[in-house]
Amino acid sequence: MSFAIRPFHPGDIPALYRICLHTADSGKDATYFFDDPDLVGHIYAAPYVIFEPELCFILTKAEQPLGYILGTKSSPVFSAWCEREWFPVLRQRYPLHSKTGSALQQRLVELMHLGHQIHPDFDAYPAHLHIDILPKGQGGGNGRKLMRKFLLKLGELHVTAVHLQVGKSNPGAIKFYQHLGFHEIKNDEKSVAFGMHLSN
Ligand SMILES: CC(C)(COP(=O)(O)OP(=O)(O)OC[C@H]1O[C@@H](n2cnc3c(N)ncnc32)[C@H](O)[C@@H]1OP(=O)(O)O)[C@@H](O)C(=O)NCCC(=O)NCCS
Repeated sequence: MSFAIRPFHPGDIPALYRICLHTADSGKDATYFFDDPDLVGHIYAAPYVIFEPELCFILTKAEQPLGYILGTKSSPVFSAWCEREWFPVLRQRYPLHSKTGSALQQRLVELMHLGHQIHPDFDAYPAHLHIDILPKGQGGGNGRKLMRKFLLKLGELHVTAVHLQVGKSNPGAIKFYQHLGFHEIKNDEKSVAFGMHLSN
């Protein structure tokens, strides 16, 4: 059975949470860092598909989800929606300074309370994305195909440019983005931000 890519279906949400967790340690399984397996997906997966389901594509094999690409066409609009609709309940569920769990878990709780801080360097790149594929789906061109689908959809929506951020502890992903033609927008101690202008 070969790989396929299809639009997101609401029944994919549990798989998105799982894939997000299993790739959250710089592309590798982060299960052991979290007391609560849902925390990562609350930040990096679920809000996107609830707010903009048309911007999520699912990689499957034998109908089973193995990867996804998702994102937003407008980071400021998405951020405002998260502040209004998504984060308030979660901030109560995951209080700041609870001092439980790993440093990574505490960092994500801090991020949840901070909300999406949009750096002015990204103003010219309104959309942003996340892409994650489990090991069995990696390395055979699936990442490139998911990215093509996502960028075509952004084009249909008349989006002018997109950005993403990747940790320096994930050199494979950095090479992938460079290879696909993304250019560097910002480079700091721990992460690189890449961008791409879209010709509409
Ligand atoms: C990063 C990721 C999305 C790439 O997807 P993939 O399916 O493995 O990559 P593909 O097979 O589609 O590769 C596309 C191209 O990039 C190149 N590429 C991919 N990874 C590369 C690497 N580590 N080094 C050099 N080139 C690489 C491939 O050679 C390929 O080139 P070609 O199309 O010209 O032959 C995927 O590996 C993944 O999800 N990893 C775990 C989660 C993760 O790190 N997500 C990113 C978080 S920012």
